[in-house]
Amino acid sequence: MMPDSVRQMSEPTRNLALELARVTESAALAAGRFMGRGDKNAADHAAVEAMRMVLNTIYMNAVVVIGEGEKDDAPMLFNGERVGSGKGPEMDIAVDPIDGTRPLSNGTWNAIATVALAPRGTMFDPGPFLYMDKIAVGPSCKGTVDIEAPVEHNLKAIARCNGKSVEDLTVVILDRDRHKELIAEVRRAGARIRLIPDGDVAGALMTAWPDSGIDALMGIGGTPEGVLTACALRAMGGEIQGKLYARNDDELRRGREAGYDFEKTLTMQDLVSSEDVFFAATGITDGEFLHGVKYFGTGARTESLVVRGLTGTVRQITATHRWDKLSQLSAIKY
Ligand code: FBP
Repeated sequence: MMPDSVRQMSEPTRNLALELARVTESAALAAGRFMGRGDKNAADHAAVEAMRMVLNTIYMNAVVVIGEGEKDDAPMLFNGERVGSGKGPEMDIAVDPIDGTRPLSNGTWNAIATVALAPRGTMFDPGPFLYMDKIAVGPSCKGTVDIEAPVEHNLKAIARCNGKSVEDLTVVILDRDRHKELIAEVRRAGARIRLIPDGDVAGALMTAWPDSGIDALMGIGGTPEGVLTACALRAMGGEIQGKLYARNDDELRRGREAGYDFEKTLTMQDLVSSEDVFFAATGITDGEFLHGVKYFGTGARTESLVVRGLTGTVRQITATHRWDKLSQLSAIKY
């Protein structure tokens, strides 16, 4: 029989891992209704409300460290907001109810709902600084890259640990003007590129996804997405490094005054310092590793990924939801 001390330690967190799937499923079911409907704010609002409602049923006392929305004035879970039942383990929470609001409202690929949990005080708080430079790799290349090193150096290292040549590699990069030089450097080195319009959480997770064919994610994206990715990759065995990125001198000055170091490499340990992390994502629109929500009249089907840092367990959950049952239990209109 398991000793009491061990049971006490493991019980609360064990429950949280799977609870998170309900949170992202709920956000995805609500947001999926807005696929292709060209209304980003309505989609965000639906996802945020659904996420908040289910989060508040979970036995935990969590503070939102990473809330999303400031970037584009979208509805959001607020930084500092408390979520959960108010009892139970003290946690930090990072949310991105829709990573890929634009693809969702255009009806294109890879929009997901995501959330991560870690013990209180262990998640990096980027304050108002929204962007960071990132390099992410899968388990086979953990410990081999350095965000400070030239692109070609990192590509050679990634090729070596994946048993490929640089020409065989595929690097995911957000399709942004700010990446012109990065794209040119990757091309000069001879690697292949997958430009994505949005969604660098999904882009980074693909590096740790068997058979995705993606070897690395590089470039500047959201800081919230960076912390969420760090939580997921901790459990999946990969690695992300980051560096805060200031869009202009004023942002740099404000960041420095607030005590942020824009020169520092943010390691996995800096981004989330506990191994006891949980991450969940549910597909909203179809993507490379998660199918989007499929509505079939009397209900819907979702596909989720749930990972737990302590055990490294990666679960894929396909769920069938029934409106007749849900409508009796839930205030959320799916
Ligand atoms: P949201 O849908 O949450 O706004 O984020 C989409 C996204 O593509 C992220 O995946 C990425 O980190 C960030 O936006 C990049 O920011 P920007 O679109 O401003 O370049």
